[in-house]
Amino acid sequence: MKLRRATTKDWKLLLEWRNDPQTRENSITTDEVPAQRHKIWLENVVEDPNRHLYIAEESGKPVGTVRADYDPETGVYELSWTTAPSARNMSLGKKMVKLLVATLEKRVLAQIKQGNNPSIKIAEHAGLRRQKENDGVLFYTNY
Ligand SMILES: CC(C)(COP(=O)(O)OP(=O)(O)OC[C@H]1O[C@@H](n2cnc3c(N)ncnc32)[C@H](O)[C@@H]1OP(=O)(O)O)[C@@H](O)C(=O)NCCC(=O)NCCS
Repeated sequence: MKLRRATTKDWKLLLEWRNDPQTRENSITTDEVPAQRHKIWLENVVEDPNRHLYIAEESGKPVGTVRADYDPETGVYELSWTTAPSARNMSLGKKMVKLLVATLEKRVLAQIKQGNNPSIKIAEHAGLRRQKENDGVLFYTNY
C-alpha cells in the first residue's frame, strides 16, 4: 500500500466516497455535500499546511482516504478515514490508518461514533486507545 497526497484532481473520487450513505451515517456531520462546496473544501485543504489529506492506493488503485489535521494549540493531529465502498471489509482500513500513524510519528486523535465497530478496530490496530466518551462519540488517542 502507498499513501500519496491528494490533489484537487481527486475531487470526484473523494466526493463519491464522502456522499456514500454509510460514510454519511458514520460521520460526525451527516449532510450530503454538494459538488461546489466540496471543491472549495478540497482546495482549502490541499493549500493548508496544517492539513494532510492522503489517498491510499493498493496496486495503483485508489482504495481509501485518510486525513490528518494538525492543531497547533495542542500539537495533536486529528485523523479521519474512509475506505472506498467497493474496497470495504478487506482489511484496507486497518492497513491504511496503521501506515499513516506509523509514518507520521506524532500524537494523534480520532473521534469515532459509538457503534462504528470497524473503525474502533481500525483505531486499535493502529495503536490508539480509548480515552473518553462524549455524547456518543469515542475519543481514541496514541498518547
Ligand atoms: C468504517 C470503515 C472505515 C471500515 O473500513 P474497512 O476498510 O472496511 O475496515 P477493515 O476491512 O480494515 O476492517 C476493520 C475491522 O472491522 C471489521 N469489519 C469491517 N467491515 C465490517 C462489516 N461490514 N461488518 C462487520 N465487521 C466489519 C473487519 O472484519 C475488521 O475486523 P478484524 O480486525 O476483527 O478483522 C469503512 O466501512 C468506511 O469507510 N465507512 C464509512 C466512513 C466511516 O465510517 N469512517 C470512519 C469515521 S471514524
